[in-house]
Amino acid sequence: MSEMTENESVAEPLKQTKPTDDKEKASATTEEFPLPDWVPQWAREAPKIVVRAPGPKSKEIIKIDRDYVSYAYDRCFTFTIEKAAGTAVMDADGNVLLDFSSGIAVQNAGWTHYKVSRAIQDQAAKLIHSMANDAYFDKEAHFAKLLSEISPGKALKGTFFGNSGAEAVEAAFKLSRYYTKRNEHLAFFGSYHGRIGAGLALTSKLKLRYSYGPLAPGIIFTPFAYCYRCSFKQTYPECGLYCVDYIENQVLSMGGTTGQIASIFVEPIQGEGGYVPPPKEYLPRLRKLADSQGALLIFDEVQTGFARTGKMFACEHYNTVPDILVMGKALGGGVPLGAIIAKPEIMKKWRPGSHSSTFGGNAITMAAGLAHVTAIIEENLADRAAKLGDYAMKLLKEMQLRREIIGDVRGKGLMIGVELVKNQYTKEPHEATNIQGKCWRAGLMTITSGIFGNVFRIAPPLCISKAQLEKGFEIFEQALKDEEEFLKIGTSSPPG
Ligand SMILES: Cc1ncc(COP(=O)(O)O)c(C=O)c1O
Repeated sequence: MSEMTENESVAEPLKQTKPTDDKEKASATTEEFPLPDWVPQWAREAPKIVVRAPGPKSKEIIKIDRDYVSYAYDRCFTFTIEKAAGTAVMDADGNVLLDFSSGIAVQNAGWTHYKVSRAIQDQAAKLIHSMANDAYFDKEAHFAKLLSEISPGKALKGTFFGNSGAEAVEAAFKLSRYYTKRNEHLAFFGSYHGRIGAGLALTSKLKLRYSYGPLAPGIIFTPFAYCYRCSFKQTYPECGLYCVDYIENQVLSMGGTTGQIASIFVEPIQGEGGYVPPPKEYLPRLRKLADSQGALLIFDEVQTGFARTGKMFACEHYNTVPDILVMGKALGGGVPLGAIIAKPEIMKKWRPGSHSSTFGGNAITMAAGLAHVTAIIEENLADRAAKLGDYAMKLLKEMQLRREIIGDVRGKGLMIGVELVKNQYTKEPHEATNIQGKCWRAGLMTITSGIFGNVFRIAPPLCISKAQLEKGFEIFEQALKDEEEFLKIGTSSPPG
């Protein structure tokens, strides 16, 4: 075997590097918001169902999986994923599905973006493990610099890289304790911050916490500004954000704290809680509250970050800068990566050895993440998400007028929640699983969330075309209609 030069790659040459025929096709089209030209032809044809899933090849793998892989995974799609590109996912039997999930808000620039694939392949040929705990690594430094430049208000600096969203939450939790020398934290009903350690302790849902106690002590939960199902039965804006008054006047004085709150942990838009954007005054009020308590304000943007909501970070919609920002999911473009970035005076408190991770700043994750975030910036995907999000919101609001199973439509950019109810007056939740299955059978991959499992997340890759959004909504509405007919709901009458 001949020796390789530094720039040679051991990997197969990339197949999806901007095929010229597709490029010509894309530039010839007059379509508004077309798919980018790097998306291969097979993925442009989504959805295309060739066999009822699970087909024979999927079944073979599922059989082995069921014998050998942990049952802890709660899978909602009975197929084996083979490849994905742009906004489409292909299973082992050749079914091509249109994707409205981005792999849970991970593939923001599109599945298997060619720049991310190429960056991984090039990096893997040179160096895989960067031992970034003990030595310096160029891409880690450059990536941290870029994250500081795009941070809210350009006010944050000093990134700590870990391996997942939950690990990043853990880092933020530790830093807030280290900095304030306090050990109490405020968190919210409907929150989700991960499945381990501090992240699980900060997560409110009983099902996820069940049988894992005792969890980290010192966490006080309070209702989130979930206006559609207000815990206080108030109505915005007349309420004057009673949910924040409640924290100020009751939780902090009568809720059993020691008056020594280290941090307020909040998702600027709740993700797993049901894609819930709070009113515009909410985060500024939390900012004031944190300052008045000498506590740090921590925004968990693991799900909302990297252009998903039409801005690089969701907190920019609220003109509010956190003390610590938590990132994950789309940060890595598909590889396991999480990170925190903070106000410099806070991050600088951590002295060498205060926190660490063997794989933090890993060569592959840095190369992939840097390529993905750069693509999001260069392809102006925040703007695209904002514009397509407005269009999607309009279509869904119109659909809500036709479909009484839809109780609420809300969101920002391409992070939209569609909440299902049995009756628009009683707001009794209607579980989404059946409809999700119907969509999937028809070639649309959607995921759900919400404390009652009744919210559809409309969170496609941000490179989705306008035509694909329309196609996806057609499938979605048909599934809703079938469910309404099946259940005979959709009477617009109030109860009684
Ligand atoms: C807001 C938020 N924080 C943290 C996490 C945990 O991230 P991970 O699953 O990468 O540990 C998630 C995952 O869904 C999340 O949505």
